[in-house]
Parts: sequence; C-alpha cells; structure tokens
Amino acid sequence: MNVIEVKDYQEMSKRAAAYILEKVRHSKKLNLGLATGGTPIGTYQNLIEDHNENHTSYKDVTTFNLDEYAGISGDDPNSYRYFMNHQLFNHIDIDKSNTYIPQGDACDLKKECTDYEKLVSDHGGVDLQILGIGSNGHIGFNEPGTSFESNTHIVELAQSTREANARYFSSFEDVPKKAVTMGIATIMKSREILLLISGENKKEALSQFLHNEVTESFPASILRNHPNVTIIADKAALANEKVYI
Ligand code: F6R
Repeated sequence: MNVIEVKDYQEMSKRAAAYILEKVRHSKKLNLGLATGGTPIGTYQNLIEDHNENHTSYKDVTTFNLDEYAGISGDDPNSYRYFMNHQLFNHIDIDKSNTYIPQGDACDLKKECTDYEKLVSDHGGVDLQILGIGSNGHIGFNEPGTSFESNTHIVELAQSTREANARYFSSFEDVPKKAVTMGIATIMKSREILLLISGENKKEALSQFLHNEVTESFPASILRNHPNVTIIADKAALANEKVYI
C-alpha cells in the first residue's frame, strides 16, 4: 500500500488528477471507476482544466460509478448521475453512452443490481477505481456490516451517512434511505484502487483503516488485502499518523 501525503485538499486533487491522467493518456482503453461526494470534486475540476488546456481525450475511456440513490431519476439534481454530468462528463469529450451509473429509479432494483454487476464484468472489470471513505469506514455505499463477498446490491443507508449527505438536500428527510452500490467484492476486483482522503473529519477513519484489523464492521479495511492500493491523504486527515509516515 502506497501512502502519499499532501499538504491539503487542493494538492490532493492535483495529485489525484495527475494520477488519473497518466492512465487516460497511456491506456489504449481504460475502465475508470468513479466516486461522487465532496472528496473527488477538486480532482474532477483538475481533469476539466487539463482537458481545456491540453485537450486530453476521454474517447477511449469507459466509466463505472460506484453507487446511486434509490428512487430518484438521473434528472434529479440530487442524483449521482446529475452530479457526474455536471461535475465532469459535460465538460470533457467522453461519450455519455460510455458512462455507467446504476439506475436508481429502475422499476426492478434487484435486477438493476445484477445487470450492473454483469455490465462491469462484461466490460472486463475496472482498471482504476477512485474511492472516498465515509467516517464510518464505508466505501461506495457499503455500510459497516456489509459482507466482503457482496456484489452490487441494494443498501439501507446508515443514519450517519444520511446526515453527512444531508448538506446536498433541502432537508434531512429528503435524503433517500436506500441506494444501489457496487459491493465490496465488486470493488476488490478492480485492478487498482486510488483512495482519496482529506480533512480532519476523516482522521479517525484513516487511523482505523491503517491500524485496525480487517473487519466487516469497518468496510474500507478490506482494501488492506488488495494488492494495488494508493492512498493520497492530506495533512489534516493524516494528523494522527506521524509515526506511520
Ligand atoms: C460516493 C461514495 C461514498 C463517498 C463517501 C465520502 O460515490 O461512494 O463512499 O466516497 O461517502 O464522501 P465525501 O467525499 O463527501 O466525504
């Protein structure tokens, strides 16, 4: 596991974008796993800036997002489809038909999960998966207690996750209670993982991740068993970790 310490959120975003751009430029065909939330926004901004300045092309890139809220359509401003279109896809030359996100308003959500899992594997799996981490250790929307064997599935969102995400909704009540997420097994099949961690509010999660046992009660801990993980974390997130670094 490679841990890169950076000064702050801006530097994390720059380093993460550079990491992704290396793959975009040098792969004939790239399956990129993407995340939403506050953490990757700066990374996406850097990718857009690079696209405007250097014209890096995404024509040979296919993307697979980790998760989507259940019960809302892709046109809903709170959906992750909307987030991705506005934070990234609308601003680069990616073919939108090559951008996949679970459909949260599918009438048969269970089938949507099976189909999404198959879609990822039919495309040959994810080459590089970008991840953020929840303060309870969730990755994707895999909350504590999720089986490490899980494939794409429907989840009940933890109260703490709904509270953390309420900042994007007009009220806490509006935050969906369910979501569809790639499972832990799906994530672990990615050939490479780039985990981004920024801010003081993630320092406990980062400590647990680095020092505690691998356990389903802290889903991100499984990443310690993955052969190719890079973490880019800022000083605030690494505040407890001087000894480790
Ligand atoms: C989002 C996702 C989540 C977030 C996590 C951290 O697609 O999968 O696991 O990465 O909730 O969210 P932020 O970045 O908002 O702190």
